[in-house]
This record gives sequence, C-alpha cells and structure tokens, in this order.
Amino acid sequence: MTTDPPPGTYTMRPIGVIRSPYTETSQIPKGPGAEHHAEGVLELLPEYAAGLKDVEGFSHLYVLWVFHRATDYDLIATPPVDPRPHGVFSTRSPRRPNPIGLTVVRLLDRDANKLRVRGVDMLDGTPILDIKPYLSSISEEDLRRGWLAEAEERRRMEGSGK
Ligand SMILES: C[S@@+](CC[C@H](N)C(=O)[O-])C[C@H]1O[C@@H](n2cnc3c(N)ncnc32)[C@H](O)[C@@H]1O
Repeated sequence: MTTDPPPGTYTMRPIGVIRSPYTETSQIPKGPGAEHHAEGVLELLPEYAAGLKDVEGFSHLYVLWVFHRATDYDLIATPPVDPRPHGVFSTRSPRRPNPIGLTVVRLLDRDANKLRVRGVDMLDGTPILDIKPYLSSISEEDLRRGWLAEAEERRRMEGSGK
C-alpha cells in the first residue's frame, strides 16, 4: 500500500470576494480571548449566484478562503495565544503549505449574490473558494481542544496568581 498522494496540483478559481472592514492584518482581533463580531459581505461572482439557492435557511456557514497575502509557510508556528511552538497543522496560522482559511460566520441576510454575515476574521478583498452550511454534530463532551485548553488553563492560573 502506498502513502504517496496522487500527483498533480489542483487549480481552484475563486467564486467571489469577501468585503470586510479590515484592510490590515493588525486590525483583526487576535490573542487570548479574541472574539470576531465584525460584519462583512460574501460577494459571489454573478455566475455562481444560483448556487446560493436555499442558503437562507442556515444560521451559520463555513467559508473557505485563501490567505492571499501570505507569502510562505512554516511547519512550526507560535500562535499569539501561547508562547510555546506548535505544528502548523495544530494551529490556524495563515502561513501554511496550502494557504486555505476556514471561518464559521453567522448569516444575517442575503441580497441576490451577496451574503451579509457576522464573524469575519479576514482582510477586505480576500478570495472565497467555497461556502458550505455549518452543521456541528460533535457534542461538548466529545470535543478536545489540545494545547489550546492547556494554554488557556496556564493563563488562568497565572492570572489568579497561583
Ligand atoms: C489566525 S487566522 C484564522 C483564519 C481562519 N479563521 C482559519 O482558521 O483558517 C486569521 C489571521 O489571518 C490573517 N489574515 C486574514 N486575512 C488574510 C489574508 N487574506 N491573507 C493573509 N493573511 C490574512 C490575519 O492576521 C488574521 O488575524
């Protein structure tokens, strides 16, 4: 049995663009406790608008997008929430071998090919690769948060002076 991936590269065309209030990465909340409440618009190219039929019924959507301003990748990343280094695939770093971003947004409303959403964490002009309905079937008890839970616990202990 081989573990080699199939050869080749995969060409994807953006289906649209994200309109966001952020023009610089420094404006996007990050670090411990960062929350994403900013509104934005997912603007699909007119030729893909028919693909939005029935999307209004979903409260949340997954948006797959391109870190189009990332220039390279690092296999080890040190996220802003923890001084300890972690493998890139256990982080949400923008500097990844395939610069694909994934964000869950709340759908506020739709106007033809435009979806107004809340919870954007990407730059204005970011290309959209795909949109899918968000359906979570994993219960709180089954969910493990790895190093992030440990980093949060360390911060909590430091904060309480223990
Ligand atoms: C930590 S990543 C998480 C993104 C997404 N939620 C994910 O998990 O894939 C978010 C950061 O990516 C950077 N970023 C956002 N849009 C970008 C873009 N279009 N190109 C490069 N970096 C971007 C910003 O620094 C932002 O704070």
